[in-house]
Amino acid sequence: MTEDGPTAGLDPARLPRHIAIIMDGNGRWARKRFLPRIAGHRAGVKAVDRVVTYCRKIGVEALTLYSFSSENWKRPADEVGALMNILKEYLERELERMLREDIRFNAIGTLDTLPAFAREAVLGAMERTRDNKGMVFTLALSYGSRDEMVRAARNMARAVKEGRLEPESINEDTFSTYLDTAGLPDPDLLIRTSGELRLSNFLLWQTAYTELFFTDKLWPDIGDDDVAEAIAAFGKRERRFGKTTEQVTGGKGQVP
Ligand code: IPE
Ligand code: IPE
Ligand code: MG
Repeated sequence: MTEDGPTAGLDPARLPRHIAIIMDGNGRWARKRFLPRIAGHRAGVKAVDRVVTYCRKIGVEALTLYSFSSENWKRPADEVGALMNILKEYLERELERMLREDIRFNAIGTLDTLPAFAREAVLGAMERTRDNKGMVFTLALSYGSRDEMVRAARNMARAVKEGRLEPESINEDTFSTYLDTAGLPDPDLLIRTSGELRLSNFLLWQTAYTELFFTDKLWPDIGDDDVAEAIAAFGKRERRFGKTTEQVTGGKGQVP
């Protein structure tokens, strides 16, 4: 944060409504320091704190963090167990702050696969913050985009079978409402840290027209300046959604 405040240099008209982040590089951060991987995850939580605080301050409406993928269950059991403990501790510690700062906590993914102690912390935080309006803060937990879409298709099929849904009425909006992200706007900006250039099964449907920003920095090293840099880059992009430059700029040749 600069002396000019958290929004210095950011054009409010070009602020992404929804930022999604693939928080990657915790293991490499620890390895560089000859520390166990879990130390990297603990350092990563501090970066989460910084980014949540910053996004809330500058007026981002929705922040979604990829915390644990459906594929991450394949990691060593001790790492998975430690991540579940970190999640529970994080939610218990941050609940007060979320209530104070009007943040609504949300989670996407197959929550029923989480160990009971972690699932209860997640559902409890969602329940306690459900009326908050300042920012929606979503953690993707045991989340995989293909799994989410398969579950949506299964639920739609069930609705058709039970006579609650007409196959002919299914369109993109209908499909969206069957996803875990129902009610959230699609991400405007997606950031991935640690230099990897892939989506790793994150929000594949929702990122159809999302602007992508990649940084080599490892997640535990991320701070306000990095998010500000990504937002500034986003502000310079021309989002055409299939149209021509002339159409989106009203013929003025400028970014709208
Ligand atoms: C991201 O960091 C956190 C999770 C996936 C839980 P990693 O643990 O993937 O870190 P690297 O990629 O091994 O450095
Ligand atoms: C993606 O990171 C999942 C999260 C950030 C939670 P990974 O580290 O699991 O992704 P891959 O395996 O390198 O693609
Ligand atoms: Mg990784």
